[in-house]
Amino acid sequence: MLIQPINSLKGTIEVPADKSISHRAVMFGSLALGTTHITNFLMGADCLSTISCFRKLGIDIEINGSDVVVHGKGLQGLTKSEEILDCGNSGTTVRLISGILSGQDFETTLTGDTSIQKRPMKRVILPLSQMGATIEAKDNNFCPMHIKPHALKGITYESPVASAQVKSSILLAGLYADSPTTVNEPFVSRDHTERMLEALGATLVREGTKVTIMPCNELHAIPIVVPGDISSAAFFMVAGLIVPGSDLIINNVGINPTRRGILDVLLEMGGDITLLNECIVGGEPVCDMRVRYSKLHGTTVGGSVIPTLIDEIPVLAVAALFASGTTVIKDAKELRIKESDRIEAMTTELHKMGAKITPQEDGFIIEGDNTLHGATLETYHDHRIAMSLAIASLLASSPSTLLNSEIVSISFPNFFELLETLSH
Ligand code: S3P
Repeated sequence: MLIQPINSLKGTIEVPADKSISHRAVMFGSLALGTTHITNFLMGADCLSTISCFRKLGIDIEINGSDVVVHGKGLQGLTKSEEILDCGNSGTTVRLISGILSGQDFETTLTGDTSIQKRPMKRVILPLSQMGATIEAKDNNFCPMHIKPHALKGITYESPVASAQVKSSILLAGLYADSPTTVNEPFVSRDHTERMLEALGATLVREGTKVTIMPCNELHAIPIVVPGDISSAAFFMVAGLIVPGSDLIINNVGINPTRRGILDVLLEMGGDITLLNECIVGGEPVCDMRVRYSKLHGTTVGGSVIPTLIDEIPVLAVAALFASGTTVIKDAKELRIKESDRIEAMTTELHKMGAKITPQEDGFIIEGDNTLHGATLETYHDHRIAMSLAIASLLASSPSTLLNSEIVSISFPNFFELLETLSH
């Protein structure tokens, strides 16, 4: 894909549905009694992997355009899959489903693509084993993973990482445990699991960084409306702020407090972003955003903010390239074990464009006011690297070639079409 530099971004768009919420709607809908109608489901490859896994576990799931209907069978209603469950590129699918499968009375094998097979699973294997599951994995850490369930017991788990995937996996197993299960994290990670399970009838107690779930007999289906994904909106928020003359509206963006770090940091950097029509949709705060070109300044980002913008850090690094002064991003070591090593990937590719960015073990140091030139850019089989580099390319002095750009379909199938619509 050839990315041409542009003059400005103008117009109104709606970004795709939230990936995290779409996954959970199918998973929890499958475990609920009754029919779950999901409006505005993300038809990205990751969420389609979740649908495919639950179909193999005996759940009837209909797709009608962007709406999905899940015919849930209750907490004990899944049936053994005759095939290995293929989670594709989706870490959320593998990690959350492993918690659910630990509570079933049948064995399952899970795997995924080459990226998934390199991502650490010990982080869920350890707590789920403490709860009573037997999980065999390559080097005790990697897919394929074979889960042999046993009766589960409630545990209190001090998670070494702030990870919603780890927290959710344990909480889902906790639905099947004989006593309450508590997860404590270093910082609060995204809370879509807690919100949705509560809405379906589970009992949870939240206190700061700690969540306790009570064993549960039944979940009940409710209609679920999925808001737009702030992680997808982030690419256009940054583009609108850094490309001179831009003025755009992004409609229907989820701004859950555990997800809105990118918004708060961009505002803090001097970004002109106005929130319009704030409301609650399906238990999640949502708004429209007006984004206008702004002269940003550098900042330091670390600590408890990191889990609230973890997926947006690659594109935040792009924003920092065009800010004045230095930006430091720290405490973000998790970036090294995402769909790719995002610290390595961003640094290597942005260097090809002439950027002043220095990798750190846990983040980046970025000098501002860069002048970039076009280059041929690798995308590391990582949707967020591809889109972040596309945004950086908009301000280069010459066109860039983005290799294997179709990877954006993991979370944002119409990314390039929207970019084209807004480009002037
Ligand atoms: C997700 C949690 C985050 C995030 C991922 C989606 C989720 O991962 O990076 O894209 O839906 O729970 P971690 O839980 O590993 O931080």
